[in-house]
Amino acid sequence: MQRRVFLKYSAFGSMLAFFTGPNLHANLLENKSLLGFKAIDASTEDNIVVPDGYEAKLLISWGDKLFSKAKPYDENKLIDDEAVKNASFVFGDNNDGMSFFSLSKTRAILAINNEYINPEIMFNHQGKELSKEDVLYEQKSLGVSIIEVQKKGDTWELVEDSKFNRRIDAHTKMKVSGEAKNEVLKGQKFVYGTLNNCSNGKTPWGTYITCEENIDDFFGSSDENINFNKGQKRFGFKTKSKYGWEKFDERFDLAKNPNEANRFGWIVEIDPFDAKSTPIKRTSLGRFKHENAEIIIEKDGSVIIYMGDDEADEFIYKFVSKHKFKKGMDTSKILDEGILYVGQFNGKLGDMRGSGKWIALEFGKNGLTEQNGFKNQADVLINARLAGSIVGATPMDRCEWIASHKESGSKEVFATLTNNKSRKEPNAANPRVKNIYGQIIKWSPKNSHKDEDFSWEIFALAGNPDNQSTLNKGSNNITSKNKFNSPDGLAFDKDGRLWIQTDGDYSNKGDFEGMGNNQMLAADVKTGEIKRFLTGPIACELTGIAFDEDYTTMFVGIQHPGEKLAPSHFPHGANTTPRSSVIQIRKLDGGVIGS
Ligand code: FEO
Ligand code: CA
Ligand code: CA
Ligand code: CA
Repeated sequence: MQRRVFLKYSAFGSMLAFFTGPNLHANLLENKSLLGFKAIDASTEDNIVVPDGYEAKLLISWGDKLFSKAKPYDENKLIDDEAVKNASFVFGDNNDGMSFFSLSKTRAILAINNEYINPEIMFNHQGKELSKEDVLYEQKSLGVSIIEVQKKGDTWELVEDSKFNRRIDAHTKMKVSGEAKNEVLKGQKFVYGTLNNCSNGKTPWGTYITCEENIDDFFGSSDENINFNKGQKRFGFKTKSKYGWEKFDERFDLAKNPNEANRFGWIVEIDPFDAKSTPIKRTSLGRFKHENAEIIIEKDGSVIIYMGDDEADEFIYKFVSKHKFKKGMDTSKILDEGILYVGQFNGKLGDMRGSGKWIALEFGKNGLTEQNGFKNQADVLINARLAGSIVGATPMDRCEWIASHKESGSKEVFATLTNNKSRKEPNAANPRVKNIYGQIIKWSPKNSHKDEDFSWEIFALAGNPDNQSTLNKGSNNITSKNKFNSPDGLAFDKDGRLWIQTDGDYSNKGDFEGMGNNQMLAADVKTGEIKRFLTGPIACELTGIAFDEDYTTMFVGIQHPGEKLAPSHFPHGANTTPRSSVIQIRKLDGGVIGS
């Protein structure tokens, strides 16, 4: 491994960003910026750039061995029976959301999603001549990777053959629970696999939450004249799927197995401490294109889960548990019993703030009746999107991650609305038609997250202040120095820095000129200040954030460098296949990241 390739410092000194916000001014005068690092410039280089005084190192890449019996990544890309078997013992592809579970000061478990695959990178035929083996190899290369890591000196390393190491993929046996359980199981005891595991959540009782997003990409129909029902249409199923699995595996053929698609699109709970545990699909949290799950424990122990649906003009959801969480209790029913709500964001167009309402998605209430096509609560949950439309939810600009600095007692909740290029009708919270840049919105309840009412405000409207006019310039905290597009990953650290990751247009041209490759920024949510912290390699998306216990290491996901055959050779350099990877960032003085 060429660690030196990774070690890259910004060649530029700090430039005080230009802001107009009065709060920011006051804060700067007091010289107490939460963001203590020197902002870096945009970059189009095929590497990781971090601020002066920081270093980035590789932790693990797609195809790296989790067990000594596995074979290392094969640059010849020979896909045979052996390669298919081997895929179960190596790190999965396209890593996304992840959580850190501490075992001791120097040992931990990382649970890491492997969202999807890139056939153009994975195969010599670039996906053009798919075989049954290829599909099996793909099915075993996604899902979730659970790994043990150990800190040696300053550096975290994989523990090969750890009892915690595990791959979960499209074939793994899963339980189903919650109010749509019987409808989903349809007489089976178990279902098999998890798909398109986007981002994540971490429960206070020590389990990992993985979120199933674009599951329609894996299902098609052998009958070209199939009549999709309303729910299937709304989810986006097509006769010809993106990955073509239906041609090799009947399970993904909607003409033959229409119910199989109802077994995906859920929140899945995994016990990362037991590699033999059976993951559980939690149907009471609704079925849609789940991005992440931000979990907040209210003072009375109620478990609140905010969840976004990443599709143009879809909704934001909230779950409120019936059971109150207490340390040491039986937590097995917490995610099964409670009320799912959907968000309505009201206000006057142009105000950039307003009020809102959480509306319950309960069968028999708010128009969710037989007359409107719902048979029961299971039907409401499986078709949460249709239910949301009936109760008057607000179509959003593709909600990606949701994050709250709950440890501080703050009631504010932030969410990335990544972009919505097809928006025709603006609304107060989504004020731009053909939104190419995205925005970060925040909301807060007056008293408790159990409240049905909330107020909201746009925290940052991304844009290009250098070549755009009106709203596409972006909000005042977007400048020539920090401009970006398509905010996606979002997480708070313990001090309240809001870390932002982008998954946007990396052409660095036209509307996106000066934004460079996808990147990571940090925001001080009290002042509105935003600074660029990291830039990724060519054609990657930055996604996945986790910290070690003392916040001196930040783990970051580099997803699909070189996608669509863009010229990346990250992480191993010339003549190697670009591979999705998890990297670790450290401050050279051992301090807290971002301080
Ligand atoms: Fe998998 Fe919406 O990102
Ligand atoms: Ca995302
Ligand atoms: Ca995205
Ligand atoms: Ca991606």
